[in-house]
Amino acid sequence: MTSIVEQLSARVGAAFAAIDLPADLGRCVESDRPDLSPYQCNGAMAAAKLAKKAPRAVAEDVVAKLTGDALIEKLEIAGPGFLNITPVNAVYAHRANDIAEDDQAGARKVEHPRTVMIDFGGPNVAKPMHVGHLRSSVLGDSLQRLFRFRGDTVVSDIHLGDWGYQMGLLITELESEQPDLAYFDAEYSGEYPADAPVTIQDLSRLYPQAAAAAKEDEARAAVARKATAELQAGRRGYRALLAHFISVSIAALKQDFDALGVHFDLWKGESDVNDLIPALVEDFKARGVAEKSDGAWVVRVAREDDKKELAPLILVSSQGSALYGTTDLATIQDRKTGYNPDLILYVVDLGQSDHFEQVYRAAYKAGLAPEGALEHVKFGTVNGTDGKRLRTRAGGTFRLADLIGEAFDRAKSRLNEAGLGAELSPEDFESVARMVANAAIKFADLQNYRTTNYIFELDRFISFEGKTGPYLLYQAVRVKSIMRKAAAEGLDPGPISVGTNEEAALVRRLDGFDSALQRAYELRAPNHLCDHVYLLAQAFSSFYAACPILPEKDEAIRRSRLALAETTLKQLELTLSLIGLDAPEKM
Ligand code: ARG
Repeated sequence: MTSIVEQLSARVGAAFAAIDLPADLGRCVESDRPDLSPYQCNGAMAAAKLAKKAPRAVAEDVVAKLTGDALIEKLEIAGPGFLNITPVNAVYAHRANDIAEDDQAGARKVEHPRTVMIDFGGPNVAKPMHVGHLRSSVLGDSLQRLFRFRGDTVVSDIHLGDWGYQMGLLITELESEQPDLAYFDAEYSGEYPADAPVTIQDLSRLYPQAAAAAKEDEARAAVARKATAELQAGRRGYRALLAHFISVSIAALKQDFDALGVHFDLWKGESDVNDLIPALVEDFKARGVAEKSDGAWVVRVAREDDKKELAPLILVSSQGSALYGTTDLATIQDRKTGYNPDLILYVVDLGQSDHFEQVYRAAYKAGLAPEGALEHVKFGTVNGTDGKRLRTRAGGTFRLADLIGEAFDRAKSRLNEAGLGAELSPEDFESVARMVANAAIKFADLQNYRTTNYIFELDRFISFEGKTGPYLLYQAVRVKSIMRKAAAEGLDPGPISVGTNEEAALVRRLDGFDSALQRAYELRAPNHLCDHVYLLAQAFSSFYAACPILPEKDEAIRRSRLALAETTLKQLELTLSLIGLDAPEKM
C-alpha cells in the first residue's frame, strides 16, 4: 500500500530517469501553496547543475515525459522550475478505499522490528511526583504506544527511585518518631511484621520533614548517609523497611497512573539491581574501565572533541556507596540479561543530560551495550504563568494527584458550561469528565515538541475550542453520532469516490497518517501525532460543512461519504489512542 506522495514520486522519478537524471529527484511533497496545487516537486532545481541546463528547461523535459500520465490531472511549471502537481480524483478514491479497508488505517509497520525498552515515569519512592514526572509519563506512554503500534516489541519500566539518600532520610526520620520498631534493632533476628508501619500519608510527611532537617543540620544529614550505606550493605531491618516503603508507594502510584491511563510493564526500581553491583564494579575494574580517584572509583568519560568538559562518572563513592550512575549501569546489565533490547529510551528531563551522557559512555566503554543503543529522550520544563517552573500557590512542587483532581473538577464545570453531557447518567458524566481532563493535560503536553518549555494553563487546555484535547474528543464524538444516526436509518458505507475539493482534502490528510507516524517515531516526537490528528479533525469539519452525508440524495455518494466519515473516525481514534486519549461515545 503506497501513499499518494509515493505514487506521485514514483511517476515523476521515472520521468527524471527517462531524461538520464537520478530518479530520486522526482520526490514529491505536499505543496506549501495548496492554493496552487496540492503537491509539488522541486527536483528540477537540484537537477539543473547535473543536467547543465536551466531548472525551467529541466522541468519542461520532465513535463514532456509525464504528458498523458493517468495519475495526473494537471501539471504546471511555476517560477524558476517548480512542478505543481494535481492528481486525478481516482488517485484519492483509490487510496481512501485502501485506508478504509486497512486495520492500521493506512499506517505501515516498521520493516525491522526491534526490542525497545522505554524507561519513563521515574517517580521516587516517598517523594511526591511533580509535573516533571507527569511530562515523562505522558511522553513515555505515547512513545510506548507508538513503538508497539509500529511493530516493535516494547517493554516499559517505571524505574522507581528507591535506593539513594532519600531512603536513608526516611528510615532515620521514622526511627526518630518510632524508635521502638523492631526494624531499628540491629540485634533483632525474628520475622518482621507483614503490615507496613507507615501509610503513604506518613511517607509524604516524613520525607519533606527529614529533607528540611538534613539541609539545616549536617549531623542529621550524616545520620541519613550512614543509614543509606547500611541499607545498601544489606542491613536486614532497613531492607525490610525499604520493602514496605516501596509497596506503599507503588500502591499509591498505581492509583495515580491508572487515573491517567498510563501503564508500565515493569515496576522495577534502582534497588532491584543492588545485588548486581559488586560484580559489575569488579568487572569495570578488571577491564580497566574504572580507575581510583581520591578514594572513589570513577569512569573517565570525557572525550577530546567535547565542547564542554564532562565529569567522570562516580561508580563507587569514597564512602563506598553506589550512586545514581551505578544503579543505572547495573540496570542496563539487568535489562540486557532479561530482554536483550536493541534500544533503550530514557524519557527524562533535559536537566539530566550530563548524567545520561556519562552513563552511556561508561556503558559503551565497558561493552554493556553497543554504541547508539542507549538514547536520552529529553524534554523541557512545565512552567507557571510567571515563566518559572510550575509551583503550587503555596510555592511547593505540584503534585500529580492534585493536578489530576483539579483538571477533573474543571472538566466537569466546562462540560456543564458548554451544555455537554446533560443527558448522561451521573456515572457516565464522571467518566466523560475524566476523559476530558486527561485529554486536556496530555494533549497540551504532547502537542509541543518535547524540548520546548510550555506554560501550564489549565483553562486554555480544557477548552473545547482551538488546538486542544477536548476539541478533538468532541470532534470524534460528533463523527460517532453521525455513524450512529446512519446505522439507525439503515444506511451503510460503500465504496469511496471523490468528487469535491473537500473530499480530496480530507483524503490527503488520511494519506498523511503514515508519514506523521514515521516522523513521530523517528524523532521520538508525538507532537507530530498531535498535528496530524488536529489537521484531520479540521479537514473533517470542512468536509462535513461542504458535503452533506445523511441528507445526500445520490445513494452512491451518500455511501461514499459515510465510508469517508467512518474511515476518518477510525484514524482519529487510532491517533488519539497513540497519544493516550480515549474518546467517549457521547457527550
Ligand atoms: N527517579 C529519577 C528522578 O526523579 C528519574 C529516573 C530516570 N531514569 C533513569 N534510568 N535514571 O529524577
